[in-house]
Amino acid sequence: MKHFKITPGEGLKGEIDVPGDKSISHRAIILSSLAEGRSEISGLLEGEDCLSTISVFNNMGVDISTENGNYFVEGNGLKGLEKPISSLDFGNSGTSIRLCSGILSAQDFGSTLIGDDSLSTRPMDRIVEPLSLMGADISGTKEGTLPINIEPVDSLIGIKYSLPVASAQVKSCIMFASLYAEGVSEIEETVTTRDHTETMFKQFDIPVEVSRQKKVNLIKVGKVDVVKPRNINICGDFSSASFFILAALISPNSHLIIRNVGINETRIGFLHALRHMGADIELQNKIDSFEPTADISVKSSNLKGISLNTNLVANMIDEMPAFFIAASLAEGITKVKDAKELRTKESDRLQVMSEVLEAFGVKYHLNEDGIIIHGLGEEGVFRAAEINSHGDHRIAMAGSIASLRADGESRINDCNNVSTSFPNFLDTCTKVGIKIEES
Ligand code: S3P
Repeated sequence: MKHFKITPGEGLKGEIDVPGDKSISHRAIILSSLAEGRSEISGLLEGEDCLSTISVFNNMGVDISTENGNYFVEGNGLKGLEKPISSLDFGNSGTSIRLCSGILSAQDFGSTLIGDDSLSTRPMDRIVEPLSLMGADISGTKEGTLPINIEPVDSLIGIKYSLPVASAQVKSCIMFASLYAEGVSEIEETVTTRDHTETMFKQFDIPVEVSRQKKVNLIKVGKVDVVKPRNINICGDFSSASFFILAALISPNSHLIIRNVGINETRIGFLHALRHMGADIELQNKIDSFEPTADISVKSSNLKGISLNTNLVANMIDEMPAFFIAASLAEGITKVKDAKELRTKESDRLQVMSEVLEAFGVKYHLNEDGIIIHGLGEEGVFRAAEINSHGDHRIAMAGSIASLRADGESRINDCNNVSTSFPNFLDTCTKVGIKIEES
């Protein structure tokens, strides 16, 4: 098992790239596998989560090859997937299993879906319910967890569904199933979640209608017969960039530029929240592509505690561990509520992050759906600590960066899963001057 050791050091300087966006990479692999013909994907995240998605489609007869970091997908067509000879293993990836369940529910073969220990405890009833309403024969355990079993049915039907949780994975699962269903599905979301499936559908010329009335988003998707292949270029992952945004903010005398990062508005709540706290962050060289991008310039900043605007929570859900660290070093109190979804991630991120704060000597009050953090302020120093990441990549990375402000060497345990989203995290840290090593 991998552990990280971090020594606090000097200001951080440099220009870096971060790996491809995980959410966009999954969607690119999935849609190009369902297309008829050859798609080329550049900038794909070569992290374990996306490799799980590739292996799932390989196991259903899709040929995916790679050359010089580019991926070539020979799509089998919407109905051309083959019955896998064994269970489909999604590893640690909640996004992959939930999106693919929608597709698998519409195939003329059955399948069994499994994952690692963390994924096996995460809630799957949130997709089993809408897919069942669409007519799918799908079941999990009675606790609503993996394994999922899917049996073939004659047809699916479109549904009207109001999302009970703010989840892009659930929305996307229904959108993918709707490509095969009779009629049109209408999905309502009262909280705006990441819209990468909508943008990727448009990129593949799949009709999708999105409207907004009385603060509710309505997404309409109907059946399609053919998906045509496309060449897709994937931008850097804002969620991975967030750890280096945090690093520059909390390390005195720092200036980092993170190049070519996705700045889709449904993903950058962290940036808005930090600016509200006084962070010096600029977006430069903006490019308005199907997923807009920019270079992010960040300088060390003195932060002030805030009451987090609840509307931002869904748009910074994966950045919350990093946000908690920023709040711990801000002047004053930061309040987070309506963030219960954090308990359903790769770990219970409210509980596990409260343990991280405890270890670093930060005062906090944990609630069922949020946390109140008492910031240590501009001159604040964490107690050097030994942190258990509980195998959660984002806890491991947030803990590593927090260690830059500790009063000695800190150790983060159980870091193998960092490679699910950020395979070259250590090299990128070293490049900007962070003293981190594997032990
Ligand atoms: C994702 C959606 C989010 C996020 C996850 C990726 C996606 O999950 O936490 O890392 O790609 O759709 P929820 O939709 O469950 O909030």
